[in-house]
Amino acid sequence: MRAGPDLYRKARTLIPGGTQLLSKRPEMHLPGHWPSYYSRAQGADVWDLDGNHYVDMGLSAVGACVLGMADPNVNAAVHVAVDAGNASTLNCPEEVELAEVLCELHPWASMVRYARGGGEAMAVAARIARASTGREKIAFCGYHGWHDWYLAANLAEDDALDGHLLAGLAPAGVPRGLRGTMLPFRYNALDELEAIAAAEGQALAAIVMEPLRNHGPAEGFLERVRAIATETGAVLVFDEVTSGFRLACGGAHRTLGVEPDIAVFAKALGNGYPIAAIIGRRSVMQAAQSTFISSTSWTERIGPTAALATIRKFGRCTVHEHLMHMGTLVQEGWQKAAAQAELDLEVSGIKPLSHFSIRSDAGEAPRTLFTQLMLERGFLAHTNFYATYAHTEQHVSSYLQAVREVFPIIASALKKGTLEQMLRGPVAHAGFSRLT
Ligand SMILES: Cc1ncc(COP(=O)(O)O)c(C=O)c1O
Repeated sequence: MRAGPDLYRKARTLIPGGTQLLSKRPEMHLPGHWPSYYSRAQGADVWDLDGNHYVDMGLSAVGACVLGMADPNVNAAVHVAVDAGNASTLNCPEEVELAEVLCELHPWASMVRYARGGGEAMAVAARIARASTGREKIAFCGYHGWHDWYLAANLAEDDALDGHLLAGLAPAGVPRGLRGTMLPFRYNALDELEAIAAAEGQALAAIVMEPLRNHGPAEGFLERVRAIATETGAVLVFDEVTSGFRLACGGAHRTLGVEPDIAVFAKALGNGYPIAAIIGRRSVMQAAQSTFISSTSWTERIGPTAALATIRKFGRCTVHEHLMHMGTLVQEGWQKAAAQAELDLEVSGIKPLSHFSIRSDAGEAPRTLFTQLMLERGFLAHTNFYATYAHTEQHVSSYLQAVREVFPIIASALKKGTLEQMLRGPVAHAGFSRLT
């Protein structure tokens, strides 16, 4: 297996950072040895440039392919769109149909705008919230992309984004004039949001957060967030870029009983084809008219076509129940394998977006060794398992068999202090700061 790592070395000379997405950088997984590029991907199967086959039991296209890669139903719909012309001077009717479908799934919403990526859709949501309230400050929790409005948080204090999924995001190039506009609070830390509301309530344009991520809301948390937004007049934005289409057809908030003013979808919405939707209440969304939000590529046809096909299949097959089942099997399997191997493991995440961490003082070395040993056994595997409709019980059982072989090796290497010796390359990078 050399073609992928070799091509990546070349990529580093041509593309700053090597890839377009941090999570697809080989250094994040297995520096020097990660296959890095694919020739083909289908269902849960991936083939690298050397023709090696892997089962993806890790990030599943970083959460984009909730039905599995190259889903046949979505692809069939996309082929029709391609043949009918993906771009024209006129608009594609699919964007109106998709708006109707999204509003039916989320009856609190009545208008929709589109983008193609999650981060840019969140920037649209922030702009609409600011335009609609005439205010500038945003209370936020969690990761929401790379745009200026969000990275401005790190202009205030270097560590404002620490604890928000991706620590250490550098705000070089973000205008210093945005300093002080972003006010962080932690998930379930109601007192922190209450303090922001008390000090800045009348300046708050929005409260921006994922409805849930690694764990669900504490009792009454989201209800109180909703009440604070209403009391202060801030727009409540739920970022469903990753949580959407995992626990329900549509937003995870549908299962939590709290309705935002705006919700944002991307990733799973198009099952790997670029499409993002910003859905919201009419009163708020109309503000998109009072500012300028417009892009040629947001009008192409593949995105909304793929989204319609994804939603149809998701609902028809109650995909979220399958994701829960797969995630439950994997989480239980991790726990059992860790107990047998006497590995100190912490399992977290909602079942469709499962995660474990190995408690040790060895930094990123244990998870690097996990990825290396699983790769040798034919799996793309990290400390995450993002379930898809293409995963079967058979996939899970052969994966867990491999996990049961690998965990004892890691446990023993941890005891003996030989972890780094067993690695074929350097330890994986922990985050953004290590890559710059
Ligand atoms: C919650 C959340 N918001 C926004 C984003 C950014 O989305 P994208 O990578 O499509 O720009 C992500 C990506 O991981 C995310 O998890």
